[in-house]
Amino acid sequence: MDFHTLVHTTRSCRRFFQDPRIETDFLKSLVNLSRMTASAANLQPLKYILSSDPDTNAKIFNCLGWAGYLKDWPGPVFDERPTGYIVILGDQNIAKYFDMDVGIVAQTIMLGAYHNNFGGCMIANFRHQQLTDALEIADHYRILLVLALGTPKESIVIEPIGSDGNFKYFRDEQDVHHVPKRSLDDIIVRIY
Ligand SMILES: Cc1cc2nc3c(=O)[nH]c(=O)nc-3n(C[C@H](O)[C@H](O)[C@H](O)COP(=O)(O)O)c2cc1C
Repeated sequence: MDFHTLVHTTRSCRRFFQDPRIETDFLKSLVNLSRMTASAANLQPLKYILSSDPDTNAKIFNCLGWAGYLKDWPGPVFDERPTGYIVILGDQNIAKYFDMDVGIVAQTIMLGAYHNNFGGCMIANFRHQQLTDALEIADHYRILLVLALGTPKESIVIEPIGSDGNFKYFRDEQDVHHVPKRSLDDIIVRIY
């Protein structure tokens, strides 16, 4: 897959086939990829918890919030749930701010997943204390983002934001997920 196609294909997917499942070695390869990304002051303060274990996956899933704009959809049903997770932690013994690093790492991991015919969704809407307790996470770590991963089971199309200015994703009658994106002209403020 060429890079342009990879970036376009790397959409937030929230429903998954249960086969093939995410394996631990693949999760490790994604984190290994993330090690190579840029890091502010090269502090590399991000740490990771990996799960492809069904029981642990269930504990993580119970802490997550899905697709806020899809008001009638509570999240994926049992047999469409992610088969693996990467929980991104900030090690507060190393740094106090993680915001830039976490985005760079998260997108790199997602590109790596899609490059290998997997996919997923970044989840920032999670119950922090419940997840901390469920995974017995030590005090000096802050949970920053959860990456829910699996084999994509969604049709997703990108479309331009129309004259109504609607940026909210939606699903149509055919269950296709639509993601409005701003046009290039709308986001370039000035060219010299
Ligand atoms: C930092 C971040 C946090 C997000 N948190 C959630 C979340 O909690 N739940 C969810 O369903 N989607 C979440 N998303 C996915 C966004 O809704 C998604 O990126 C957006 O709808 C655009 O779709 P696209 O990723 O396919 O371009 C998050 C995305 C980002 C970048």
